[in-house]
Amino acid sequence: MNRKILVIGSLNVDQSVQVMSLPAPGETIKGHDLKYLNGGKGANQAVACGRLAGEAGTAAMLGCVGDDDFGKMQLDSLSASGVDTQYIRRISGTPTGMALICVDSKGANTIVIIAGANACVTPELLEESGSRKAIDEADILLLQMEIPFETNLAVVDLAAKSGKTVILNPAPAPDHSIPDEFFAKLDFITPNENELASLTGMPCGTIDEIAAAADALLQKGVRNVLVTIGERGALLANQDGIRHIPGIPADAIDTTAAGDTFNGAFAVALSEGKDVEEAIDFANRAAAISVTRRGAQDSVPYRTELTELI
Ligand code: RIB
Repeated sequence: MNRKILVIGSLNVDQSVQVMSLPAPGETIKGHDLKYLNGGKGANQAVACGRLAGEAGTAAMLGCVGDDDFGKMQLDSLSASGVDTQYIRRISGTPTGMALICVDSKGANTIVIIAGANACVTPELLEESGSRKAIDEADILLLQMEIPFETNLAVVDLAAKSGKTVILNPAPAPDHSIPDEFFAKLDFITPNENELASLTGMPCGTIDEIAAAADALLQKGVRNVLVTIGERGALLANQDGIRHIPGIPADAIDTTAAGDTFNGAFAVALSEGKDVEEAIDFANRAAAISVTRRGAQDSVPYRTELTELI
């Protein structure tokens, strides 16, 4: 039986628009093909867990949406992807989180997020009996940075006392410092190269620079630093050393949620007992499919698509 995954994080409606080039400060540009899509780093990762798990009942999500149509859209998308939504609260009088996304002709993006109901995922919410049940029943906790940071602090404290596996995807990069005690309670941290640069204050352009910055994060006590570096693949640093795992070439049209797909897939592979390098390979394959499709949750592949690739 798979170990159970609980994603604690954000749910957003993505207002996604296609542009030729991303706008510069002060510039007005034309966009086209505006879409309202299901997104949010937490929900995207939960959808990836639900779609990629080989077994029903593997993935659940804890979070908050508004009592608007966008909140319902999110719950429907998660349920249809096999995610248990019973721990998602609908908050009356508060809008569902929102993201404003521009995607350029090469698939690169800019994202602005507005927290909305995601701000209601507080440490107090974790104290409620439903939330406690969700955390108690989970074996793997998957976190991001689009809910209040105090909540992530509380989650890792609970997890450290009960021996659960904690994966933190530090996205978006925090605009505040993070205490070393927090890092020391993480089993995996999964920044991309920009987030790693922001967390360490070190340059992260070349593979050697990324390796040095990953090592600096390892010294803070995280057990595994797993850096996602787009088409260059991933870099893993742990007590066994530093390894670069090459990526899988793909014709990218939209990289939105590629990192989320990677994180969800990685958690699924761990839940099935794969070792870390096998899990990275599985996650690389899932992310390579996601960049060939538009949107966030819309781009996340199903398990059968991955099996066909192997
Ligand atoms: O990682 C992509 C996601 O970031 C989008 O779906 C958007 O909602 C923001 O959370």
